[in-house]
Amino acid sequence: MIAALLLAAGRGERFGAPEPKQYARLLGRPVLRVAAEALLADGRIEALQPVCAAGEEARVAAMLEGLPHLPPVTGGATRQASVKAGLAALASLHPSGVLVHDAARPVIPDGTIPALLAALEQHAGAIPAQPVSDTLKRGAEGVIGETVPRAGLFRAQTPQAFRFDTLRAAHEASTAEATDDAQLLEWIGESVALVPGHESNVKITFPEDLARVESNLLPLGSSRLLPRIGTGFDVHRLVPGRALILCGVTIPHELGLDGHSDADVGIHALCDAIYGALAEGDIGRHFPPSQMKWRDADSAQFLVHAMERVAARGAMLVNADVTLICEQPKIGPHAAEMMARLAAIMGVDIGRIGVKATTTERLGFPGRGEGIACQAAVSLMVPD
Ligand code: CTP
Ligand code: MG
Repeated sequence: MIAALLLAAGRGERFGAPEPKQYARLLGRPVLRVAAEALLADGRIEALQPVCAAGEEARVAAMLEGLPHLPPVTGGATRQASVKAGLAALASLHPSGVLVHDAARPVIPDGTIPALLAALEQHAGAIPAQPVSDTLKRGAEGVIGETVPRAGLFRAQTPQAFRFDTLRAAHEASTAEATDDAQLLEWIGESVALVPGHESNVKITFPEDLARVESNLLPLGSSRLLPRIGTGFDVHRLVPGRALILCGVTIPHELGLDGHSDADVGIHALCDAIYGALAEGDIGRHFPPSQMKWRDADSAQFLVHAMERVAARGAMLVNADVTLICEQPKIGPHAAEMMARLAAIMGVDIGRIGVKATTTERLGFPGRGEGIACQAAVSLMVPD
């Protein structure tokens, strides 16, 4: 089993903002969430362990809402101490391998994780690294001392992959502070492979790095974002014996919605609006009802997927507006919780999400209480 550590316990001092850089917004979403999605996109990581500063556990969990992850654990004063804390938390799961990743690196190029895991077959560790291309100078007090030959020099990136037991032993054995985990393996004489790194795998260190990553996310050749809208509409039948889940919130009611998944009509309409704005079909195309695995599925995962498509296109959600159409139950008392839940699943600010409701004056199927309908509209900024 492969586990991953998402390191987010740093203070981001060089970033210089009131908040650490991993909480900054990249195209409207927390950097650490984008990094988590990039790790999980590979599909082979079965346990994601976030590591954060003391007191930030609930906030980090909220930023990762809807993504499979373990409860965040508290890191340490140094990156190395944070890794050690994360490894300790994973120990009972006995992973064979672990990826150690900086939450400040939101972009993991395709191919990096497969190359790392392939290299782990032969080596105790593997890291993505890029050959140094600039001429290197050693200097002091503004004056060159000497030119350092750059042949054979690499810039190390993350995620770094390790055999779990070896990395733990390396941390236990270490008496000095290393700047990355590969160095700990070097110290105990273990072999660490170099796999190709990529320029797009930027570690956000200074504020300009955030802007650079945002512009890198624009597809090649596109230089501007255009506003696009999408609409979605969905209906489910009300039946006895089912839970009523609307916009991710379970509402006490004598009837629930019938459907293949959990039948969350609000999330389904919202997903269709997002896919529509991207011109990427609808929810049925991405999650065919014919597939058994979506039976009673938590619709939150559909919404996470729709937002992953938004991120993959380099787009940004401007706002979403959801209207539930039913006579009963009354939505008003639950609307604030629904907005908070949708915002959390989508990883966006709550101010971008609206949930409201209307009746049909007792006319038609919603008026007779036979079902609940929902319509949703979203606006995205999408690279041209
Ligand atoms: N990190 C951590 N625990 C620490 C220090 C760093 O988990 N005690 C994490 C950071 O959150 C970041 C990664 O390690 O994701 C790389 O560290 P770095 O880029 O140095 O981040 P910061 O230490 O936050 O930034 P700075 O050095 O500018 O303060
Ligand atoms: Mg640091």
